[in-house]
Amino acid sequence: MAVALIEKRTEDGKTIRVTPGPILLLGAPGVGKGTQAKEIVAAWGIPQISTGDILRANVSGGTELGKKAKAIMDRGELVSDDLVNDMVADRLRQPDTAGGYILDGFPRTLGQAEWLDSCLAAQAGSLPVVAVSIKVGYTQLLRRITGRRTCPVCKSTYNIYLQPPKVDEKCDLDGTPLTRRSDDTEEVFEERMRTYESLTAPVVEHYRALGRFEEVDGEQPVDAVAAAVMAAVLRLRG
Ligand code: AP5
Repeated sequence: MAVALIEKRTEDGKTIRVTPGPILLLGAPGVGKGTQAKEIVAAWGIPQISTGDILRANVSGGTELGKKAKAIMDRGELVSDDLVNDMVADRLRQPDTAGGYILDGFPRTLGQAEWLDSCLAAQAGSLPVVAVSIKVGYTQLLRRITGRRTCPVCKSTYNIYLQPPKVDEKCDLDGTPLTRRSDDTEEVFEERMRTYESLTAPVVEHYRALGRFEEVDGEQPVDAVAAAVMAAVLRLRG
């Protein structure tokens, strides 16, 4: 499989090609990690690895993992590190991750971060991770979460307040009725935020301390956030 390369302008105006390597998108529920990961996939052609999406696929597929995860996700708590690390390890063995990938929703405990760091350190030739944390205020996050709707067929994401579909509750691309995630209620969002503050905020500090870390303002239009995230990755891959 060909390794993805992205173009980067150097300070003296030359264009060079760099390997994206592992990219972490960090941030609270609803900051736009999934939205931004899809923008990077479209621009750079590297895969998005969303632990939330993999877990939801297991829930809807009725697998053993899905059965264990469903109640935990519906409460807004975290699935155990062992289960999630194994899931990520399996995905990282796929050949499409050779040149780089975007981790969306992982790591979200210090245990997961330490596991990932040692896993990459043991991998010959692996680039270090670069981490971009997206910041959005609480009130905006609540609107994003409670307004989110998804097309169950093509997986396009909408927001009834901020990015509504052209026809009420129908997908613009295929007309399918949109669905709402079972954890996107205000009550579960509040629990997800508590979980984020206690278990995931320390992961952001972990990567800030390691360097190769930038923070981006997520309260801008999607394309402006995408430009800021990609510019940050290119700077960090200097
Ligand atoms: P997960 O699916 O990862 O949920 P999350 O982190 O809470 O993040 P979200 O998917 O809710 O939000 P997002 O940041 O991707 O925002 P999005 O782009 O969709 O995890 C769900 C659950 O799975 C967890 O609670 C846990 O139980 C389990 N889990 C997952 N990973 C785990 C792990 N590593 N360990 C243990 N358990 C794990 O955008 C949100 C909305 O905003 C959309 O409607 C979108 O259209 C809109 N929007 C986005 N950007 C903008 C913008 N710039 N302007 C206006 N609207 C915007």
